[in-house]
Amino acid sequence: MKETDSQLKMEAIVSLCKRRGFIFPGSDIYGGLAGTYDYGPLGVTLKKNIQNSWWNHFVTNREDMYGIDAAILMNPKAWEASGHVSGFSDPLVECSKCHKRYRADHVETETDGSQRCPEDNTTLGESRQFNMMFKTQIGAMEDASSISYLRPETAGGMFVNFKNVVDSFHPRLPFGLAQIGKAFRNEIAPRDFIFRLRELEQMEIEYFCHPSKWEESFEHLRKEFGAWMKSIGLPENKIHEVEIGDGDRAHYSKRTIDFEFDFPIGQKELAGLAYRTDFDLKQHGEFSKTDLSYFDEETKERFIPHCIEPSVGVERAVLAVISSAYKEEVVGDETRTVLAFNSSIAPIQIAVLPLSKKEELSVPAREIVKSLKKIGRVQYDETQSIGKRYRRQDEIGTPYCVTVDFDTLNDNAVTVRDRDTMEQVRLPISELGQYFIDKLNA
Ligand code: GAP
Repeated sequence: MKETDSQLKMEAIVSLCKRRGFIFPGSDIYGGLAGTYDYGPLGVTLKKNIQNSWWNHFVTNREDMYGIDAAILMNPKAWEASGHVSGFSDPLVECSKCHKRYRADHVETETDGSQRCPEDNTTLGESRQFNMMFKTQIGAMEDASSISYLRPETAGGMFVNFKNVVDSFHPRLPFGLAQIGKAFRNEIAPRDFIFRLRELEQMEIEYFCHPSKWEESFEHLRKEFGAWMKSIGLPENKIHEVEIGDGDRAHYSKRTIDFEFDFPIGQKELAGLAYRTDFDLKQHGEFSKTDLSYFDEETKERFIPHCIEPSVGVERAVLAVISSAYKEEVVGDETRTVLAFNSSIAPIQIAVLPLSKKEELSVPAREIVKSLKKIGRVQYDETQSIGKRYRRQDEIGTPYCVTVDFDTLNDNAVTVRDRDTMEQVRLPISELGQYFIDKLNA
């Protein structure tokens, strides 16, 4: 795809997301707040479906994962231990003329090593490290002792609960803690819609193993992560595993693979898989003066487990799902826009459309809605022409439409339309339930 096509696609997606109630700019009526977005009714359902599929895949369907939900605010010592207070920073450059600030690695560097302001071409100053943690004040005191931070990653909450879970559940290694939650990063340049945010959500696992078995766990989670991405409909040919070199890894990692995705803005990081060694448990053990070692009852060995971390941003997963599902197709003399979501995560799975608003059709249509709601996510829609309603449902990614027409009153049957093929089949109302159980679980 040419760069301009990609830009147009991104613009079309941003516009559809707002128009159809998926995602709105944060604080929209006040002109927005950079790096924040709000989910509308369809967006929040899509997001929750993606989160639930991750949770089911990695927690509910396994016996070696323990879900937790830790506080966003943590004792500031935890962030000293993790290395975030001293090291969670990006290089920042500032223009002395317009005072705009940029991430140094996002600005082109000239052959002589200098960088110029993209706004006014002024030579930019020296780069300095900018800590991205959001500082906040706890309680009524306004001194150094009251400073804390909004967590920049959910991981910390899992490391500090390692001992609690070991003491209460006595899990055998290898086992993981899993968490979905908000994280905050004071990004120098939030951009690209929901790709780079200041308020984001992460789905993370800290998977603990014997130090000699880390490679096994790494490979296992690498495969499982691939399987999960496939299950939410991300095309395999758009996912690229990239080995991160020595100088580019986070301070805690000995090996990292990034899962990059072909977003409309280019091939960019969707998720990461990092071998964090025993770095975090050792650090938290030292700083909290708590023994975070593990005793293996079988081998009678005591040691600090090593940790493998698969981490994915919820918004990047949402953007990957939306952008790979987005299609424009010419049908006859018009273009239809389709979000070809997997039916398992589509915000609405079945739309029930009476051909007319008249009671003789709306009443049986609402009855059908009631019975199908036991099977999936169903919407009743009676406004505008049937053609416009089909297009609207295509645009929000509804895989099936059920049309109730005047023949229904005689044959007790309805028409079911498939979003992708646009084929229609006539089915008795009595068979609809089983039909959709089969379709939605296929
Ligand atoms: N605990 C490891 C960790 O936080 P990371 O690579 O900094 O590692 C993990 O972040 C994931 O979180 C990324 O792969 C990305 O999906 C998401 N993410 C990170 N920063 C983000 C931002 N500013 N906006 C949206 N998502 C972000």
